[in-house]
Amino acid sequence: MKKELIKKFEEVFGSDGEIKAYFAPGRVNLIGEHTDYNGGHVFPCALTIGTYAIARKREDDKLRFYSMNFEQLGMLEADLKSLAFDKAADWTNYPKGVMWAFQKKGYEISTGFDILLFGNIPNGSGLSSSASVEVVTGVLLKDMLGLDVTMVDIALIGQYAENNFNGVNCGIMDQFSIAMGKKDNAIFLDTSDLSYEYAPIKLENSKIVIISSNKKRGLGDSKYNERRSECETALAEIQKVKAVQSLGELTEEEFHEVESAIADPVRRKRAKHAVYENQRTIKAVKALKENNIALFGKLMNESHVSLRDDYEVTGIELDTLAEAAWEQEGVIGSRMTGAGFGGCTVSIVENDKVESFIDKVGAKYLEKIGYAADFYVVDIGEGARVI
Ligand code: GLA
Repeated sequence: MKKELIKKFEEVFGSDGEIKAYFAPGRVNLIGEHTDYNGGHVFPCALTIGTYAIARKREDDKLRFYSMNFEQLGMLEADLKSLAFDKAADWTNYPKGVMWAFQKKGYEISTGFDILLFGNIPNGSGLSSSASVEVVTGVLLKDMLGLDVTMVDIALIGQYAENNFNGVNCGIMDQFSIAMGKKDNAIFLDTSDLSYEYAPIKLENSKIVIISSNKKRGLGDSKYNERRSECETALAEIQKVKAVQSLGELTEEEFHEVESAIADPVRRKRAKHAVYENQRTIKAVKALKENNIALFGKLMNESHVSLRDDYEVTGIELDTLAEAAWEQEGVIGSRMTGAGFGGCTVSIVENDKVESFIDKVGAKYLEKIGYAADFYVVDIGEGARVI
């Protein structure tokens, strides 16, 4: 793979100078959805699919980008001295945003770059292809410029870029799991203070199956920001009656004691999801540690129901996939993953049932939605790195 990409790089940008290669994975979240901007817990893992970046330093301040996923866009250029969001700059707003964010945080970016990208994360699938591009850019800058920056800082800078350059108010889950991922482990991350713990995922008898609904997120980003601000308003209302920093601090009982402070019933449902989902994530990780995979699966299913009914971010496509999955033999748990509004589900399926699962859920989806879903049996991989 690396060889082929370097060859392509040389075709596009010419062959002199030192060329280096980097990789950042995509991620899937097993449980803990829409909790990361509410001071709660998440439980994601890095995948073995992701984004490759091939790069070479330049002697001026120019940036030249080329993506093998968007060859029709050709080479896109920018200047390090005047980095600004530009709709026409398309996907290059992600690496540009990260460079801008490094500058904002006081790191000197002393030279321009030629950068070629190739990603094998299905586009717009909710497996964090954008965060993967952000983190691979951070690793590239750290390595090529010898910057003194930790992987956690790279994640935070990526999130800062996404929030302030690209205008999506995402939490830290995606960038963190992509930067810090570990083979065969999920990361139990407390987003209130970024403390974390790796939890081995030993699924001897089952596999993780991701299903892409092939429904593009569309309005997803604005709806995402809307959910976030609903939670912020609900928190402000609760703070009038109880001293808390975030919804993630509340247990289910504590929430019921103060929920009447939230004036609007829709906002009350949103906050309820944030509180319950956080508690569910804590319970799920405990269940996993106790080898109670059946309980882990049940909590995954409950997570989907809460995202469907209280948080309202699923939609007919993701509901069809999750509900079809629940009906199948050998399914331990299944839920939407990521932001929602399209994107993917994640299921844990017993090894010898995977084939029939794919056939049956695939047929149901096609029949109800009118186009096909894509299935990926995935492995948990390492975080972002030089390759
Ligand atoms: C997106 C965001 C994350 C997180 C999830 C929902 O992936 O980027 O920060 O909020 O949605 O859990």
